[in-house]
Amino acid sequence: MKHQGLMMFIGGLAASLALGWLAFPALLYEKIEQPLQFSHRVHAGEKVGLSCEECHSFRPDGSFTGIPGVDKCATCHSTRVTDSPSEKILVEEYVAGSRIIPWLVYARQPQNAYFAHVQHVKLAAISCERCHGPHGTSESLPAYERNRISGYSRAIWGPNISGVKSHEWEGMKMDDCSRCHQDHAVAESCLACHK
Ligand code: HEC
Ligand code: HEC
Ligand code: HEC
Ligand code: HEC
Ligand code: HEC
Repeated sequence: MKHQGLMMFIGGLAASLALGWLAFPALLYEKIEQPLQFSHRVHAGEKVGLSCEECHSFRPDGSFTGIPGVDKCATCHSTRVTDSPSEKILVEEYVAGSRIIPWLVYARQPQNAYFAHVQHVKLAAISCERCHGPHGTSESLPAYERNRISGYSRAIWGPNISGVKSHEWEGMKMDDCSRCHQDHAVAESCLACHK
């Protein structure tokens, strides 16, 4: 009987820790929805069958084109071809007015960090999946999660609040960049990454 109070204390402590562990990410990260849904599986998969390079390529000077502009979408979506609500937004709000789609980039690094795709994709032949995971086969877009304190995208820290990785592509902090550079014996300097 005399342990009952202690057991209740331990039980309460465990419950509040579990609650904190679950509630903390929700408090730390603000969720922002993408302007419209986009399915890589539809476009890069069997249905439309485009290659990644069709939408994500390099200019002759080596710079990466990043996310394709609305003119690219307009080649197939000048008018609606499906009854999807996202396609309606695409055609009526963006294609019709030639407006830029304000996509949120999950992998976005802070302004002061410099990253060039050409060094990694062309020179080092690293796959998109190594850094971006299965985004190229994804069916839909999750909300962008912004850290309320640092302003960073959650993809920088990685999905796991504890910082433990389940996949090598989770997280892209300064240490994650450096760890791969050490594995490949790439000489680093502060000014190569911070211009
Ligand atoms: C029809 C054009 C199109 C094709 C083909 C395409 N993408 Fe994309 N990609 C997009 C658009 C639009 C976005 C922005 C929305 C989003 O995040 O998915 C994007 C975003 C991305 C991102 C950025 C994720 C981030 O951090 O925000 C990655 C990585 C990516 N694509 C990889 C791929 C890969 C790999 C392939 C080939 C298997 C591919 N894409 C094929 C249009 C395309
Ligand atoms: C080469 C042609 C082509 C290009 C380029 C293209 N699409 Fe599509 N898209 C299609 C086709 C075909 C479908 C219908 C697929 C199906 O049968 O479900 C579709 C479906 C869609 C849909 C509705 C279904 C879904 O997946 O949510 C959206 C939204 C969409 N596209 C957005 C875009 C955006 C945004 C771009 C530009 C980044 C783009 N598409 C570029 C051919 C294209
Ligand atoms: C070595 C890691 C790495 C590899 C490999 C890589 N990316 Fe990225 N990607 C990043 C980082 C980091 C960013 C954020 C860049 C920034 O914010 O300056 C990014 C951003 C992007 C974006 C957002 C737009 C932009 O230009 O910032 C797209 C789209 C993208 N990557 C597609 C791809 C595709 C497609 C491939 C394969 C051909 C690929 N990436 C390979 C690390 C990588
Ligand atoms: C998966 C491995 C990998 C990851 C992750 C990675 N890199 Fe690299 N990086 C390389 C390799 C390999 C090279 C050498 C490319 C070459 O010249 O052959 C390189 C080269 C560079 C260079 C040019 C070399 C120098 O020091 O002047 C810069 C800058 C760079 N990376 C920045 C970054 C940043 C910033 C990140 C994180 C956001 C990052 N890299 C993540 C593998 C990686
Ligand atoms: C391989 C690329 C790379 C190298 C080399 C590098 N950094 Fe960074 N650094 C990053 C990236 C990416 C970030 C943003 C992500 C983060 O905060 O971890 C960053 C963030 C930072 C920040 C901000 C931390 C924060 O939380 O906002 C400081 C300060 C910094 N770096 C200083 C340095 C100094 C000093 C050196 C040289 C000893 C250095 N970095 C070398 C890639 C690099």
